[in-house]
Amino acid sequence: MKNKIRLGILGGGGDSLIGIVHRIASSMHDSYEIIGGVFNPDFSENIKFAKEIGLNEDRIYQDYEEMIEAELKLDESKRMEVVSILTPNFLHYPMAKKLLENNFSVICEKPMTTTFEEAQDLEQIYKSKNLTFAVTYTYTGYPMIRQMKEMINDGVIGEVQRVDLQYYQGWINPIIHDSVKRSKTWRLQPDKSGISCCIGDIGTHAFDMLEYVTGMEVQELLSDLNYVYDDNSMDVDGTILIRFSDKIKGVIRASQIATGEENCFTVAIYGRKGGLKWQQENPNYLNHLSEGEPLKVLKPGHDYNSDFSKISTKLPPGHPEGMFDSMANIYNGVAREIRGEKEFTGEYPTLNDGLRGMLFIEKAVESHNNGNTWVKLNRD
Ligand SMILES: NC(=O)c1ccc[n+]([C@@H]2O[C@H](COP(=O)([O-])OP(=O)(O)OC[C@H]3O[C@@H](n4cnc5c(N)ncnc54)[C@H](O)[C@@H]3O)[C@@H](O)[C@H]2O)c1
Repeated sequence: MKNKIRLGILGGGGDSLIGIVHRIASSMHDSYEIIGGVFNPDFSENIKFAKEIGLNEDRIYQDYEEMIEAELKLDESKRMEVVSILTPNFLHYPMAKKLLENNFSVICEKPMTTTFEEAQDLEQIYKSKNLTFAVTYTYTGYPMIRQMKEMINDGVIGEVQRVDLQYYQGWINPIIHDSVKRSKTWRLQPDKSGISCCIGDIGTHAFDMLEYVTGMEVQELLSDLNYVYDDNSMDVDGTILIRFSDKIKGVIRASQIATGEENCFTVAIYGRKGGLKWQQENPNYLNHLSEGEPLKVLKPGHDYNSDFSKISTKLPPGHPEGMFDSMANIYNGVAREIRGEKEFTGEYPTLNDGLRGMLFIEKAVESHNNGNTWVKLNRD
């Protein structure tokens, strides 16, 4: 019998959006046991929530520093092995740094840090350790996204020539026009969120997805962001032109003021022989477009899918799986890595993906602030 991986959680309390996704995802492949953590900065809320989800109070801590100190005193066979960081963005870096320094593997929410410099610092520490570090770009776990990645890699659509990623939400619309609500939203506060709201929060998903499915690195970008009000320092909308090269180009369109939109994330990649198109709100359908042929719609779990896509679904065709399952595939990838069972490129997004995400955010803001100029995505 395999031992379950002992998992700690920072953030993701009962009041959070993403906590339940991680808790359910970590349980789906029977590989993890949640041991404890810090779910809330308020200790009484923290204990209350831990009890609600049936955890023993012994391993519920005041803060991450106390948690690390106490866990290190335990025998290695009892100690947390992996810690998930699900807090607002500004806490990712100090938490991840201390965890890595003390030899805990990490599953970190995106964006990985609030600056590229912090991301580089984590990279340095990570390189000196033999640990696993994942960044939860959740949508890369969908079976039809993994199918898209494999089809592009196998040349099914030919050489990529046009990319178009759209990530539209509308939830900031009622907030941006109300200064009280605006001041209470951490994603619109630079000290909690970083230098960008929309591009940091969802543009970064689109950027990671683009590099994930194409297997190529973006070379240059030009961005035009919208802050809507002069006294608002955080973008809520942006259009970013992308160049892989002089001959391979496209666009990332991200908005949190696309009124009425929910989580409309669309990925479209066009090659010389055909195109592939996927929508997050209907994740079990992958459209394969070709010239002069009828549209083909691929679905999960069938033998015509790649092995990587097939390990990313748990039920026979026709039983819809969704975002919990997608996140679970990332947790499963981390578990397979830790157990030496990982087979495919892209089973979980890595620290390097998180680092490139931070480079993208900084360069998108730089390009806008420069007066919408082309900026290279290099590390200097
Ligand atoms: N991968 C995705 O698709 C996805 C979706 C939503 C959010 N996120 C990311 O997840 C993170 C959290 O987002 P959210 O929407 O769940 O935020 P949220 O505000 O809904 O929840 C944040 C949680 O962190 C807890 N917290 C705050 N300070 C803490 C501290 N010092 N110690 C311990 N816990 C603390 C809060 O109590 C709360 O439970 C963000 O980085 C966000 O970008 C990712």
